[in-house]
Amino acid sequence: MERLLRHVRARLMVALALNALLGLFGTHLAHAAGEDGYDLWLRYRALPAAQRTALAAAATGIQSPDDTPTVRAASAELKRGLAGMLARVPDAIPVNSRARVGTVVLARAGLPANLPADLADADAVRRHLAAAGAEGYVVRHTRQGGVPITLIAANSDIGLLYGSFAWLRQLQLGAAPDRIALADKPALPLRVLNHWDNLDRTVERGYAGESIWNWWELPNIVDPRYMDYARANASLGINGTVLNNVNAKAEVLSPAFIAKTAAIADVLRPYGIRVYLSVRWSTPLELKETTTADPLDPAVAAWWTRKADEIYRTIPDFGGFLVKANSEGQPGPQDYGRNHADGANMLARALAPHKGIVMWRAFVYNPPAHPNQGRERSGDRAAQAYDQFKPLDGKFDRNVLVQVKNGAIDFQPREPAHPLFGAMPDTPLVMEFQVTKEYLGFATHLVYLGPLFQETLRFDTRAGNKPMTVARVLEGTQDGHVGGIAGVANIGASRNWTGSTFDQANWYAYGRLAWNPDLDSRAIAREWAGQTFAPDARVADPVVAIMMRSREAAVDYMTPLGLHHIMGTGHHYGPAPWVDDLGRADWNPVYYHRADRNGIGFDRTSKGSNAVAQYAPDVARRFADPATTPPEFLLWFHHLPWDYRMPDGRTLWADIVAHYDHGVAEVAAMQADWQRLRPFVDVQRFDDVAQRLAQQRREAEWWRDACIAYFQHQSGLPLPAGVRAPAQSLEYYRKQTFPFAPGHG
Ligand code: GCU
Repeated sequence: MERLLRHVRARLMVALALNALLGLFGTHLAHAAGEDGYDLWLRYRALPAAQRTALAAAATGIQSPDDTPTVRAASAELKRGLAGMLARVPDAIPVNSRARVGTVVLARAGLPANLPADLADADAVRRHLAAAGAEGYVVRHTRQGGVPITLIAANSDIGLLYGSFAWLRQLQLGAAPDRIALADKPALPLRVLNHWDNLDRTVERGYAGESIWNWWELPNIVDPRYMDYARANASLGINGTVLNNVNAKAEVLSPAFIAKTAAIADVLRPYGIRVYLSVRWSTPLELKETTTADPLDPAVAAWWTRKADEIYRTIPDFGGFLVKANSEGQPGPQDYGRNHADGANMLARALAPHKGIVMWRAFVYNPPAHPNQGRERSGDRAAQAYDQFKPLDGKFDRNVLVQVKNGAIDFQPREPAHPLFGAMPDTPLVMEFQVTKEYLGFATHLVYLGPLFQETLRFDTRAGNKPMTVARVLEGTQDGHVGGIAGVANIGASRNWTGSTFDQANWYAYGRLAWNPDLDSRAIAREWAGQTFAPDARVADPVVAIMMRSREAAVDYMTPLGLHHIMGTGHHYGPAPWVDDLGRADWNPVYYHRADRNGIGFDRTSKGSNAVAQYAPDVARRFADPATTPPEFLLWFHHLPWDYRMPDGRTLWADIVAHYDHGVAEVAAMQADWQRLRPFVDVQRFDDVAQRLAQQRREAEWWRDACIAYFQHQSGLPLPAGVRAPAQSLEYYRKQTFPFAPGHG
């Protein structure tokens, strides 16, 4: 034992010494060693010498009440962060001892360890705390009894944890410790991740290995990784996680799985993260404990009430249920002639006594099974969710939130915001983004999703004739119905969590926007790059430049000008605009692009499906006319002739081709930019990104060539002058198949 301890201590000394040494030489040398990406943005590497000296003086010790698991998590994180950045473990300062220069004081207002009496700017701090709410924090360099300290103050334990992470973020980004002054709180109360993880550890649309939840070993064997998962999420302010796939299995509600869920909940709880489960509508029926799943049958309601009681006995802070019902073949209340509100409310009543919630998904595109459950705008999948849900506005119980995907089709590279965001003033809505890149090149392509999220959150749905962004709709500032935000996770058991380094940025960006939907995606990229690589402008600037062009590049080489859903069948990887033989019309790419000799695009105006009418009049008017439709949505809303004149004078055909070319050129530029970063990035991550970019470039060309070959075949037009012909024949591209591409779990 003694030998083991000595060994561990010796290893620690070597590690600290190495860290210190590398810090002396700055960015370049510090990156010589390989990094596997496990530490995400919480790397806490030794700071360059000058910064380290400043921080060493400003952070000599940590004074924390350490009286609850959450506060202990906060002080442990501070210790970990400072030990890494300073290569020296900070002292633990007893709570009631006198202030010492450079103490980092964790202060929970209103409780015994409240604001120190002799704080220099106590009034300002109190003012900020009054505005910080239950989850916010105040962080500032100040004085206590005349001695310089750093104060991290909050009204709650979780605020202290969030404040600690925020301070560490600033330090990692190179902020001078005596200049840091933060006061912040989250805009939305519900900030969750949705795992599409199956109980057998496959992950639907997962590209980062198997599920991190080891259902087999739980509940008695608890992977330490769950705690690192919690740390990463808490560092962003994520406060909920749905553990299993929306295509749920009945077994998840069996006593054995409730016990496993409870074990995960125990690890996440100190980090302010509640667990939720996706439930299958027909669970009681399938477990043979009822004879129907009709929501209006008292035996069914009683079953769910008993089940909720059982869950809360083991997990007192259980969050609630996420439900995919009457969607893509999943059972639901419509099977019994009931509507979505009937179904959601029945579950909500089982959860209400425990303060649990129901997140009821609006991702439906089945024609209603019974009359009077909403008019069907036949022939347009994009219109069906609105048609089924709009009539139910105001009919949901208070603890039901309707979860709406960002766009009306399905996580495409670009979609206009879902019309339901402007149409349910009496229902709290949850935004559902997909962080995993099902339609955006999986973890292979470098596509930073910050701009995609931002675009939707800032979309103006119009309330009457006043602006009303989607972000404001979620916050419910107008109507008092506060919603939330959910991200379909891209996390798996792969060592770097997300399958690729740059996909970590999508988790990060999602979390930051969940905290504050008004943050700028470029600023978020800068933060991420600074922590993940180095804050040095020589590194962070080019990384940000690559990230900021990446999403538009993908739109251009995949689905420019509003094209959508032309990806390969099932797995959704690669181009397949020609597919026309799938079971349902609206699963086929040809249904979405409608390209023929005369033109291309989906007519959603009054002459077509009239889906435009689902937007507020101001918005609908703009989208109804191709001349006022933003070019990026042109073919989403309009079917136009190939010789339609674009604003720049080019024909539509020439413009489509130019976009495909531009997409490929952008990836080439991203690749070249990355090569220039070789001196600044560790070999392991550098090579991994370089290989992925090379593959992305090959595949961008494949997308371009296959789509141009196909659309040329449809249009019968010659290629615009000077345009390179596709490398292969259309037949060649049609024959490409990917039987082992990750698809449905
Ligand atoms: C997409 C995705 C499915 C998923 C579904 C959903 O259609 O391809 O794998 O189950 O969305 O969000 O429910």
